Amino acid sequence: MNKGSKGLGLYDNLDLSASQNDQELLDVYKKWASIYDKDNDDLLGTVSQPNSVQIFHKYLSDKNQKIIDVGCGTGLVGVELSKLGYTNFDGIDISKEMIDIAIDRGYRSLFLGNLNDSLPLESNSYDAALCVGVFTHGHVGPSRLIELIRVIKPQGLLCFTVNEDVYESYGFDKVIKELEAKKVWKLLESCKQEYMTKKNVMGFYYVARII
Ligand SMILES: C[S@@+](CC[C@H](N)C(=O)[O-])C[C@H]1O[C@@H](n2cnc3c(N)ncnc32)[C@H](O)[C@@H]1O
Repeated sequence: MNKGSKGLGLYDNLDLSASQNDQELLDVYKKWASIYDKDNDDLLGTVSQPNSVQIFHKYLSDKNQKIIDVGCGTGLVGVELSKLGYTNFDGIDISKEMIDIAIDRGYRSLFLGNLNDSLPLESNSYDAALCVGVFTHGHVGPSRLIELIRVIKPQGLLCFTVNEDVYESYGFDKVIKELEAKKVWKLLESCKQEYMTKKNVMGFYYVARII
């Protein structure tokens, strides 16, 4: 992508493959936060939030279960959770500017935290976790799936997406299979669906039961 192009500049700055570090990402999201939702719809046509929550919904019928939305950003997953009647969800993100926009979107608590480090969350403390749009270019790699698993109770659920562009190049394909083979989780659903419709990017969607 052309990093200098008009209008799409902030999004294009994300497309730096694996060389992106957390500080660079923080700078990008600091600038992007105020127009993220508009770009999500108008520029990218991102549908990963409703798609993920629709898939997740099939496996979590109790609307009061405790959920954490990791990489919650401006809270678009929270909006979808609320629409379906979920009432007990928290969010966590590395970017304060993104979280500031999520404040009115139904989250019980919002935390600052970095998935590339230890999240400031107790082990086995959530019934379910969602992580949407975070396993993508230069953000977080497959080795951090284990940190998501840490905060979920045994028999809890994890729903996450992987941008198709990084699925094999970052090794998600291998790690996802390994976690199944080692009986860390049981995959309940995996599918490839629309992700950013205006960019013709597909995403992999997963729901796993933690063992
Ligand atoms: C593409 S946005 C997705 C936001 C939201 N989940 C959604 O679907 O609209 C990626 C989000 O991941 C967050 N993020 C990136 N790296 C992170 C990390 N290491 N730990 C926690 N959050 C991170 C960003 O700040 C941003 O809010």
